[in-house]
Amino acid sequence: MTGAPRAVLVGAPGAGKSTVAGLLAREWGVAARDTDADIVAAEGREIADIFLDPGEAHFRSLEKAAVAAALAEHDGVLSLGGGAVLDPDTRALLAGHRVVFLRVGLADAVKRVGLGTGRPLLLGNVRSRIKALLDERAPVYASVAMLVVDTDGRTPEDVAREIREGL
Ligand code: S3P
Repeated sequence: MTGAPRAVLVGAPGAGKSTVAGLLAREWGVAARDTDADIVAAEGREIADIFLDPGEAHFRSLEKAAVAAALAEHDGVLSLGGGAVLDPDTRALLAGHRVVFLRVGLADAVKRVGLGTGRPLLLGNVRSRIKALLDERAPVYASVAMLVVDTDGRTPEDVAREIREGL
């Protein structure tokens, strides 16, 4: 597929999508792009603020458009916000792309996300929210992925190497 991203990284918050995307892009000599960053740049506001007003539904519609645009335009490495694959239209757009699911367990996700989170969905009890999110989403991430890579206890460099070898 010409013009398609070299890899599209999906997974829960704390999976290391942006970090691994940066490493892969550097090693492949291509650009890294992130749909959360695209939305923040286009709106001129942080994601947490968009979630507050006008709300999550609006963020999800911005996200859907951001994913569609990035898939059409970007031929480097693309990382998606953790909730992007919840949208059925977005999942359909991902068909045929080199989608990699970065799998993370509860302990590592909590450790990586930390408590000072700018992630609106995780405010409150970070641990129980991440657990609910992992339980709900793991099958969805797996359903769109052509490669699944475990990230628990591993460095981003090690994860990036497995992706390069596996794609
Ligand atoms: C979200 C994950 C965030 C961001 C938004 C919602 C989610 O991205 O898109 O806060 O629903 O999981 P990261 O996966 O980069 O944290």
